Amino acid sequence: MTDDNQQAAPSSENAADAPHHRTIKSFVMRAGRTTEGQERALRELGPRFLVPFRAEVLDTTATFGRQAPVVLEIGFGMGDATAQIAQTLSDTDFLACEVHEPGVGALLKKIGEHDITNIRILQHDAVEVMEHMIAEGSLDGVHIYFPDPWHKKRHHKRRLIQPTFVDQLVSRLKPGGYLHLATDWEPYAQQMLEVLSANTALRNTAGSYADKPAYRPLTKFENRGLRLGHGVWDLVFRKA
Ligand SMILES: C[S@@+](CC[C@H](N)C(=O)[O-])C[C@H]1O[C@@H](n2cnc3c(N)ncnc32)[C@H](O)[C@@H]1O
Repeated sequence: MTDDNQQAAPSSENAADAPHHRTIKSFVMRAGRTTEGQERALRELGPRFLVPFRAEVLDTTATFGRQAPVVLEIGFGMGDATAQIAQTLSDTDFLACEVHEPGVGALLKKIGEHDITNIRILQHDAVEVMEHMIAEGSLDGVHIYFPDPWHKKRHHKRRLIQPTFVDQLVSRLKPGGYLHLATDWEPYAQQMLEVLSANTALRNTAGSYADKPAYRPLTKFENRGLRLGHGVWDLVFRKA
């Protein structure tokens, strides 16, 4: 959904060729313009809704102030889907990760506008969040919508959905917990289907790609893409 995330997605995959990456990241940090409204939301709502990164397991009951199912979202962009889903699934708590500050500000703004209480934001690399802050067997679900497709072959190593990362995600799911992915880039959809199908701890809830679950809203760019005949592929797998 490159169009949808002018501010949130890497504007150019060429930036990814810059040397001296210590570890391979699934994102490139870019300076982005934060609007006044986003700045205000960061200032006023940040203290309540931002969770600082710490290399220790997060107590989600204390964080959300209640015991409820917890879903981790990786790379929420501007947070449109996150905010809508959190309102639809109000009995679930959402731990939402994004590295791009304008996106964090945008989601905080929506949290304020709609009085959303079941989202907390981690402005940090979700790979590290998952590794350090999420207890094994603790998540009810993981949402990864339109992850950066990294079109060029030499950048494929940056794609999030790879066997090792999926193994780690699965270890954080409860038995019966689900992994919901969506992409509009068919070769990446195929890679997702291959990687998830090869994981013996997961079972596909559909024959192949899944119908879009009702809780995931169609973004306006997704709608436009669909009108132009472009595809979108959802995958929903459950931990046995
Ligand atoms: C193409 S955008 C999609 C955004 C949103 N999910 C949507 O559907 O509109 C991918 C987003 O993932 C974020 N991202 C990529 N890797 C990440 C990581 N390891 N941790 C947190 N955010 C990440 C990027 O900053 C970017 O905003």
